[in-house]
Amino acid sequence: MELYEVFSRRRSIRKYKPDTVPREIIDKILEYAMWAPSGRNWQPWEFLVVTGAKKEALAACYGRIAELAMPPAGQRTPEQERYLQWARTFGGAPLAIVALTPVYGDPAIRKMNLESVSAAFCYLLLAATAEGLGTCWMTGPLRNESEVRQVLGIPEDREIVAITPIGYPDEEPAAPPRKGVQEKIKWI
Ligand SMILES: Cc1cc2nc3c(=O)[nH]c(=O)nc-3n(C[C@H](O)[C@H](O)[C@H](O)COP(=O)(O)O)c2cc1C
Repeated sequence: MELYEVFSRRRSIRKYKPDTVPREIIDKILEYAMWAPSGRNWQPWEFLVVTGAKKEALAACYGRIAELAMPPAGQRTPEQERYLQWARTFGGAPLAIVALTPVYGDPAIRKMNLESVSAAFCYLLLAATAEGLGTCWMTGPLRNESEVRQVLGIPEDREIVAITPIGYPDEEPAAPPRKGVQEKIKWI
């Protein structure tokens, strides 16, 4: 896939086929994530590849926190039910990737590291798109961070930066509209 096409074809996918993704492909997209720039070239990222029962438990953490923000069962709109189903199962994706970084007290260093890991995460998402895989960058599950940490055994000296399910898409969502580039740019 041509590079610019990858940029525009990447979509947040919330429904996946159950098919497993070959390990070589996961290794490949993680290798491409390593090419991201990083402050001081610290490459301060670590990735957990979460599969099987751990992935189910991770998704359940999102499901529980998403449910708290919704009306009780029986009073939800079909759209709310769909969102809850997505949250509870990560859309049926066979695996998820969680990006971590070491905790730093200095706010400038923390910012630098969060930016570096976000760059790598973006590379990962684009590499996955090039491989025909779907992803969805998620911070929603972090509203239930203590449970996520417990389920994945993440120590206190690591900060969770981002989470994405990964799998073969079982939907082709339209691209949500983008704001006009001119409203976002100021030449000075
Ligand atoms: C930092 C960040 C956090 C996000 N968190 C969530 C989330 O918790 N749940 C979700 O369903 N989508 C989440 N998204 C996906 C956005 O909703 C999506 O990127 C946006 O609507 C644009 O759609 P597109 O990715 O298909 O272009 C997140 C995206 C980013 C970059």
